[in-house]
Amino acid sequence: MTRHRVKMQLLLLLGVATSRCLHDETQKSVRLLRPHLSQMPTHFRSSVLPLSSSRDPQPLRIQTYYTRDPLSNEAWAPDGASRALAALRETTQRIQGILAVIPAQRPLLLSRDPTQYCRAIWGDPDTPNYHRCSLLNPGYQGESCLGAKMPDAHLRGYSLWPEHGLPQLIQPDGPGVQNTDFLLYVRVAHTSKCHKEPSVIAYAACCQLDSEDRPLAGTIVYCAQHLTSPSLSHGDIVTATLHELLHVLGFSGQLFMKWRDCPSGLSARENCSTRKHVTRRDEWGQLLLTTPTVSHSLAKHLGVPGTVLGVPLEEEGSLSSHWESRLLQGSIMTATFDGAQHTRLDRITLAAFEDSGWYQVNYSAAEELLWGQGSGPEFGLVSTCGNGSSDFFCTRSGLGCHYLHLDKGSCSSDPVLEGCRIYKPLASGSECWKEENGLLTRAENPHGEIYHLHSRCFLANLTSQALSKGKVSQPSTSPTGRCYLHQCTHKGVYEVQVEGSPWIPCLPGKAVQIPGYYGLLYCPQGRLCLSNKGTSAVTSPQMSFSTQDLLFQLSLGLTGTPGHSLGKEEREELAEVVLQALVTRGGTSRCYFHSPSITTNLMFTVSMWKSPGCQGPSVATLYQNLTLSFQEKPLQVHHGKAIFTTEYSKLLTSMDHSISVTDQLLSTGFCILLLILVGALGTLAYQKRATLQVGPSTT
Ligand SMILES: *[C@@H]1O[C@H](CO)[C@@H](O)[C@H](O)[C@H]1NC(C)=O
Ligand SMILES: *[C@@H]1O[C@H](CO)[C@@H](O)[C@H](O)[C@H]1NC(C)=O
Ligand SMILES: *[C@@H]1O[C@H](CO)[C@@H](O)[C@H](O)[C@H]1NC(C)=O
Ligand SMILES: *[C@@H]1O[C@H](CO)[C@@H](O)[C@H](O)[C@H]1NC(C)=O
Ligand SMILES: *[C@@H]1O[C@H](CO)[C@@H](O)[C@H](O)[C@H]1NC(C)=O
Repeated sequence: MTRHRVKMQLLLLLGVATSRCLHDETQKSVRLLRPHLSQMPTHFRSSVLPLSSSRDPQPLRIQTYYTRDPLSNEAWAPDGASRALAALRETTQRIQGILAVIPAQRPLLLSRDPTQYCRAIWGDPDTPNYHRCSLLNPGYQGESCLGAKMPDAHLRGYSLWPEHGLPQLIQPDGPGVQNTDFLLYVRVAHTSKCHKEPSVIAYAACCQLDSEDRPLAGTIVYCAQHLTSPSLSHGDIVTATLHELLHVLGFSGQLFMKWRDCPSGLSARENCSTRKHVTRRDEWGQLLLTTPTVSHSLAKHLGVPGTVLGVPLEEEGSLSSHWESRLLQGSIMTATFDGAQHTRLDRITLAAFEDSGWYQVNYSAAEELLWGQGSGPEFGLVSTCGNGSSDFFCTRSGLGCHYLHLDKGSCSSDPVLEGCRIYKPLASGSECWKEENGLLTRAENPHGEIYHLHSRCFLANLTSQALSKGKVSQPSTSPTGRCYLHQCTHKGVYEVQVEGSPWIPCLPGKAVQIPGYYGLLYCPQGRLCLSNKGTSAVTSPQMSFSTQDLLFQLSLGLTGTPGHSLGKEEREELAEVVLQALVTRGGTSRCYFHSPSITTNLMFTVSMWKSPGCQGPSVATLYQNLTLSFQEKPLQVHHGKAIFTTEYSKLLTSMDHSISVTDQLLSTGFCILLLILVGALGTLAYQKRATLQVGPSTT
């Protein structure tokens, strides 16, 4: 008996390997830059602010930027990258439908860190150039965000100032990034953090804020080895990506203190001020997020009249960037990740974004969080979770059903649950909605289980009567989690089917008998058929994605000595010669390469995708072969009397053949792109007392 239990728990640990969320420690290591007034162009100060204040919020435009540094040995895994790319596109589109901001009117231009490029500043307050850079740092290597190098094109310039008079411009402002409210740098790597925390899929941090402290830029780092793992579904990668992006966009212990109070709405920025109280500790030491919209949402969720003092946060060291998981199990912003099927983008999380004062929130995308719904003010406390007052928590050992009834579960705890126990999905094979799990039971199925997309987990102790022919009585067994088919008849009302039985009405809260079986099947209350949509599919459609859909943009920097600058025709000829060499090097046909061109400063670019009918490897494979081969041996071409050699190559990838942004950005001289993500969430434990206080019904 005991041995059996021990084995079971080991399995759970292996299968549901919860990964730690590195957001807090990562964010702490990053210096958050915001623009100095002196860095803003004067016309910006005078004309743009009043103008923008009259504008309406528009969907948040997130631009993702990925370049692979050809000199680094960061992993390049086209297949993993492709999965992540698909997930990233889906995630940013989703966020766009939810968050709106007053759109930036000019290209996004990020700040430089004076403590990086400048070694000394003028120190005499009486001189005109007081506090400006008087001595450059000769070792300045440019700006980066969590290890992602930021191109000069995205950055403001900088100058060296004499004691009096006009500055010497060292680097002019870059062109900036058009049509962008948030710039996300993406890395796919095997960093030391990935190495140290093998369960981490990705981590992210915000690096720059705008003048109202709204996050402007950040980086997400994917630990490359996870992107090819078959145990992560597309939905899992999307969900984890969403979790990380929500951190970077404002749901972060480092950013809570910068949230704004905007009583007159997003369009009246002049009436906003920094919020004074975002988090506080209650008298029992529980840390709470106390802003009004989240507090109201939680009260509504728990069915508590009025409001509550705040929403409990999970404490992780000195900071906290996650909801308390006992209270908001299943929310996208708790610290544990049980897979996409069990995670919801809930209203309380969306309310946090409204309370940040940076975003207008469209709540129609909110997903229903079943956990704790209507359970009252005492729900989720360490002191009550074990006394049987709520069936969201379990007390007995053994098998039951996860609260969403998609999976069988085992009653267990984890560090963030602080001793409270819940039915957690088993390591594998416990999903009732996966038909393949039923293949195992096909041969012998005494309990009449059915695994099917519309099957759910029910507590039952059914045993086929055929089994006990001749026996006088069947030994009594206690109910356990079993998979049976269900169909909704009305809202909250459903029928069940067991192998070989007709459909039997299941009365929520009651137990039913099934013809042909001994024992009972218990019908859960308030868990199934809650929407009006009938038996809505539980599995989110797995987006099929092939690397065939990728557009790769290959850029090659050439060095050579033509002796004079090349005219337009000469450049076209040279582009053709380079393309020929590329086709030869790749050992493929021309059908992969489109629109070659060369700029006056000898940057060759070509789009790569497979034309219809094009035979050969995937674009990603070809790209990989080409870059590897350039690293081994540069490409050399002869043109006239000159010889040109490739100096470096860059990649730009996007999902869509018709992305105009791509072309536009390229033409301004930098290389943009898109890629991967995943979030890693996890568990961190702190022993603490936790409680939730009900406040007076005020607003
Ligand atoms: C900003 O606040 C002031 C004072 O409360 C109010 O009179 C004004 O109408 C507000 N502005 C907007 C645009 O709502
Ligand atoms: C909110 O999002 C829904 C789709 O989720 C969309 O149909 C609706 O128009 C959006 N509302 C606003 C005000 O943008
Ligand atoms: C559980 O504890 C809470 C708080 O002490 C109490 O209100 C409730 O009645 C208890 N429930 C049971 C079933 O003991
Ligand atoms: C099923 O469980 C109930 C109690 O929950 C028990 O009374 C009954 O005898 C059990 N039936 C069988 C066939 O095990
Ligand atoms: C790319 O490299 C792989 C492995 O080195 C090789 O099998 C494949 O044929 C190459 N493809 C092309 C198009 O060169």
